[in-house]
Order: sequence, then C-alpha cells, then structure tokens
Amino acid sequence: MFKKLAKIDEIQEGKVLSVETRYVRVGLTKLNGEILAFEDVCSHDGEIISEGEIENGCIVCPRHLAKFDLKTGKALCMPATEPIATFEVRTNGEDVEVNIEE
Ligand code: FES
Repeated sequence: MFKKLAKIDEIQEGKVLSVETRYVRVGLTKLNGEILAFEDVCSHDGEIISEGEIENGCIVCPRHLAKFDLKTGKALCMPATEPIATFEVRTNGEDVEVNIEE
C-alpha cells in the first residue's frame, strides 16, 4: 500500500531523509533525479544506514562499512551478505508516496 512519507522538496541528491513508519524505517534519497526508497536498517547488524555516506550510487553503513546499492538494495561488500529491502516510489502532486507492505 502506498503511503505518503515526504514532500518532494525534502529529498535531496547525496542526502538521506529517514522516516520511521509503524512497520519499517525508510530512507529516501535522490539519485540522478530519481527518488529512491530503501529500508534504513543494515542487514548486517541493524545499524541506521542513513547516517552513512553516499558514494557512486551506494550507501555505506556507518558501523562496519558494508555497502549497499541504493537502487537494488544489494549488499556489495562484507560484512553484509543479505540485501536491504527497497520500495516502489511514486509522486502525487508535491507528495512522495512509498509502497510499504503492511
Ligand atoms: S551494522 Fe552495518 S555493516 Fe555492520
């Protein structure tokens, strides 16, 4: 189900807006103009990933430096081996809506 999580102008290239919902913490960012949404919890040991750096389309977990592809959620290096979830995004006027399973 799509839920409104932010306004379009709150989401910026190179930064992550972290939004906690009842079911999941979602990180929102913009990559080459496209808004992306991912689960903002590291698959290695639960760190909040949005506090890490974004580099070349990836985000680096600030705790043990695992790297995840922002588009696919794929874990790109150790110590993470499992992906993080990514979510479908749509815009509705000025709103950003994310498809979160409930
Ligand atoms: S908690 Fe993210 S790499 Fe360990």
